[in-house]
Formats: sequence, C-alpha cells, structure tokens
Amino acid sequence: MNATAILHNIGLLATPIGSCAKGGQEQGRIALIKNAYLAMDGPTILAVGGGDIPEGIAGPQTERIDAGGALLTPGLVDCHTHLVFGGWRQHELALKLQGVPYLDILKNGGGILSTVRATRASTLDALVQKTLPILQAMFRGGVTCCEAKSGYGLSLSQERKQLLAVRRLKECQPVELVSTFLGAHAFPEEFEGDHEGYLRLLIEEMLPAFAQEGLIEFCDVFCDEGVFSAEQSRRILRAASALGLGLKLHTDELRSIGGAQLAKEAGAISAEHLICLNEEGIDALAHSHAVAVLLPSTSFYLDKPFAPAQRLCAENVPVAVATDFNPGSSPNHSLLLSMQFACYKYKMAPEAVLTASTLNAAAALNRAGRLGTLEVGKEANAVLWDAPDLDYLFYRLGNNPAKAVLRRGVFYGF
Ligand code: NIG
Ligand code: FE
Repeated sequence: MNATAILHNIGLLATPIGSCAKGGQEQGRIALIKNAYLAMDGPTILAVGGGDIPEGIAGPQTERIDAGGALLTPGLVDCHTHLVFGGWRQHELALKLQGVPYLDILKNGGGILSTVRATRASTLDALVQKTLPILQAMFRGGVTCCEAKSGYGLSLSQERKQLLAVRRLKECQPVELVSTFLGAHAFPEEFEGDHEGYLRLLIEEMLPAFAQEGLIEFCDVFCDEGVFSAEQSRRILRAASALGLGLKLHTDELRSIGGAQLAKEAGAISAEHLICLNEEGIDALAHSHAVAVLLPSTSFYLDKPFAPAQRLCAENVPVAVATDFNPGSSPNHSLLLSMQFACYKYKMAPEAVLTASTLNAAAALNRAGRLGTLEVGKEANAVLWDAPDLDYLFYRLGNNPAKAVLRRGVFYGF
C-alpha cells in the first residue's frame, strides 16, 4: 500500500515500544533509529524504520516531507492538568514567598476556593477563549493529547460548565482532550458545615448526570489531609466505577492518608502527585495496575520535596510525568519543562522520561494501544525537535525546540 505521506531524513527517531506502561529498567529501553523515515496512511503509521525507504511504500501521490535531519519523538501526552479555570493566582506569590503553607491559604478562602469563585464568575465562552491560547501553546510545545480535570465549579451547573468548555475545546483545536471529573477537589464554601451533603450531591447527582451526558471518561478525587478522607474517596470511586468510569486519585501530595492503598484497592488507572508517598504506598502501587503520575513542576513551584521516583522505578512501578498545569500549584503549561525537571530532580535518564510523557502517560489515560509510540498501526502523532539527540532536548532547560508537530498524519510546521 502506498503511503499518503512520508517524513524522511529524520536524523534520529526516538520512541518507546509497546502498548502498555513500562516500569523499572524497561522504562528506559527505547528504540533509537538513525537516518529514519515515518510513513503514514492518513492518520495512522504505515511503516517506520532506518535507511532507505522500502520499495512500494512511496507512490506518485505520496507527499514527501523532509525532516532536515531533526529529532523525532512521539507526540507528548500531558496526562494530568487542571486545564480550564477562571482567573490566575499571582497574588499568592507573596504569601508563598513568606512560607505560608498551601493548606493555610486554602483554609482562609484562598487557594482552590478563590479559583472556584473566579471560575463560577466566568461564562462558558470566556473559559473557552481563555484556555484556547494555552492549548495552542501546549501544542506548539509538542503536546498532542492532554487530560483536563474539572474541579473549579463544585456544583452541578458549574462543574458542567467546565466540562462543556472542554467539550467545546475538543472541537476547535488539534490537541486530543481527555475529560476527568474532579468534583472532589475541595468542599465548596456553601457546604462548609455539611460535607456529607456535598458527597451526596456529587455521588447521587453530578456523577450520574455527567456520565450519562458523555462529558467524562475518568473520575478523580483529591484524597489527602484536610481535603477528602480515604473513606470519603472510597465512596466516590465506588460510585464512579459503577458508572463505568476510569478511576484516578490525587493523593500523597500533602500527607500519606492511605490514598495509594486505595488506588490499588479500587483498581485505579493512576495515582498522582505522590510527593510524600511512603514505603507502604510504594508497595501498594507495586502490587497494583496504577501508573504513578509525577508532577515535578508542582514540587518546584511549591518548594516541596520531589516524589520518590527512584524508589518507584526500583519497584518496577511505571512512572508518568505531567505538568499539573493549574493556577495555584503549577502555573506551568510546558510539558518539556516538567520533563526536564524530572530528569534533573528525579535523576531519571532522558530515555525513561520520554517514556514517562509518551507511552506511560498514554497508559494513564487508557490510550496506550493507540498513542505514545511511533509504531505501525498507532496514530501518527509526533514532534520534530530542532535537536541532534535526546540529551540535547533535556539539556537546553527552558527552551522549546519543537519545530513541527504531526497530529493524526497532518503536519503542522512552526
Ligand atoms: O493538583 N492538589 C490539588 N489540586 C491542584 C491545585 C489546585 C489549585 O491550587 O488550584 C494540584 O496541585
Ligand atoms: Fe493536580
């Protein structure tokens, strides 16, 4: 079969291999092909290899794109973001510099709850217009798939507004969006004295409505000290599971309260943050099917410890790396910057970090069969970097060397 397009003269093609998450030593074993080509049949990869393009792949109609000797990787997958929100929180910077803890800011009506107020005050249109340029910047940074959590509405209509904004954004730009319901992000102010009432609203009204409207694919809970207890989180995850939703947990960010163990028990696809994960938690994840989603720019921005990535790798737990983009704890939408932090602060090799933000991130979104590697039959999503090798990509801190993105076989040059 003739390819619709061939990207040729790729100096180095770097890609993980396979359709499931990789942990331990395996995470760093990737394919490195010099002088490579990537042939596409529309949105799908038809052939990939090194040296001469085999006979029969290029026909008279085949479009040929010269990669100019650049580095090609799979499209990046940002598997943990709080993409849609009203306002920003730059005024918290001074408090942060004075060392006021994150939870104290939250207790005083700041933090998440101030973004809830700003999100509630925004129209659906305003949320879409505000988020679009951020997504476009993420795309120019090589992101071809991005998760988007709700959790700044905290009522039926306001959470729906955030989720509808994600649905609208799916239709007007090239990044694939994955919708996660995080109604259990904080207790809203109006339920301050009635947490049970909010849990009932969430379990009995929000979850069934959003699942039925096809607005959500995953359910996440902020299971941590001062937020949702392990028992409250368990109830929410059970209800979500009964509706057929995939399960995620924000946990062990502030203190270990059994969230990693709950991720194992509930069959969650991912456990995320994990800054204070202890040995019991590591053991639970090692005996679970969860991907450990680590968020190094959050540790950096909050000046907190970095998650125990090396211990997770030693126990063969697949590690993914994402931005956690949000206005309060990680105002960073550059996944490459988070990957660079992961390399320096988790002491992970560039090869393992590449797997973390492609194949493992795709696995954390139940998409590893379709995304995350450059292999025949997978979706043709890739980034062409102005870089001679993978080390250079990680070494040029803060730089964005993406010069083109392939998304479902369509070439976007920058
Ligand atoms: O992932 N940990 C909880 N939620 C966000 C922060 C949200 C906010 O501060 O607005 C996070 O870090
Ligand atoms: Fe988060």
